[in-house]
Amino acid sequence: MNEFLRFKYFLNYQWRAKTKYYLHSPFVYQFYLNVLEGGDDEQLLQIHHLRKELHSDNTLVKITDLGTGHDTSKTISAIESKVAVRKKYGRLLYRLVKYFKPHQILELGTSIGLSSSYMAMANEHANITSMEGAGSFIEIAKKNYVTLGIGNVTNLEGNFDVLLPEFLKNQTALGLVFFDGNHKKEATLRYFKLCLEKANAETIFVFDDIYWSKEMNEAWTEIKGNQQITLALDVFQFGICFFRKEKLAKEGFVLRY
Ligand SMILES: C[S@@+](CC[C@H](N)C(=O)[O-])C[C@H]1O[C@@H](n2cnc3c(N)ncnc32)[C@H](O)[C@@H]1O
Repeated sequence: MNEFLRFKYFLNYQWRAKTKYYLHSPFVYQFYLNVLEGGDDEQLLQIHHLRKELHSDNTLVKITDLGTGHDTSKTISAIESKVAVRKKYGRLLYRLVKYFKPHQILELGTSIGLSSSYMAMANEHANITSMEGAGSFIEIAKKNYVTLGIGNVTNLEGNFDVLLPEFLKNQTALGLVFFDGNHKKEATLRYFKLCLEKANAETIFVFDDIYWSKEMNEAWTEIKGNQQITLALDVFQFGICFFRKEKLAKEGFVLRY
């Protein structure tokens, strides 16, 4: 990651980001109140309690890099603090699912199951499918689901390139997709286009790390310009896309979070 570039992106975001007092769209204002703002409820506290335990767990987890085929290892503690969604954005995912109640949720990139836990705890009736290439991560994710009493996540192990087209064949519509694996422009756009075929007016796409690199930012620029997207919200870490039919602000919003 280019730290200097990311800092430049961050300053630009800070400059453009609006608070709720400058929002004219009722939909975006409600989004601000219900998703970006709000306190922590019991389920969030449970996840944060588990995160504290994971943070002090120095067990090494071996994974094979899907790109290079090489084995690497990381401690659970490092995965919790450096790879998994940060607490602030975990809260956002949680409130997004709680407020919009998407039924069919797809996640690309399970890791040790933290982002999927936020979504699963937000609505026990949601049906969540989470894909991950590293079997060792899935094993830990499953233990974390048991600790949190989560029973609505199905884990699929393998490469997204193979799993995603197969999975989509059997879907009629996607409620929410969280794109959080393989942060390359070409792959991100390819997964986006595949999922787009199953998007309807209620669908929400969430892209992680839209300012992680020049490539990811180019991917985000192309995504938010797609004709099917009627509203794109930028909260710096995430880009959030809506397909709703009512007239929304196509140019999108940069929101302070
Ligand atoms: C940033 S981590 C996901 C973090 C997780 N969403 C969370 O917040 O707890 C990305 C994950 O995607 C997986 N991944 C990356 N490219 C993949 C691919 N092409 N197929 C399957 N898994 C992949 C990696 O193994 C990694 O665990």
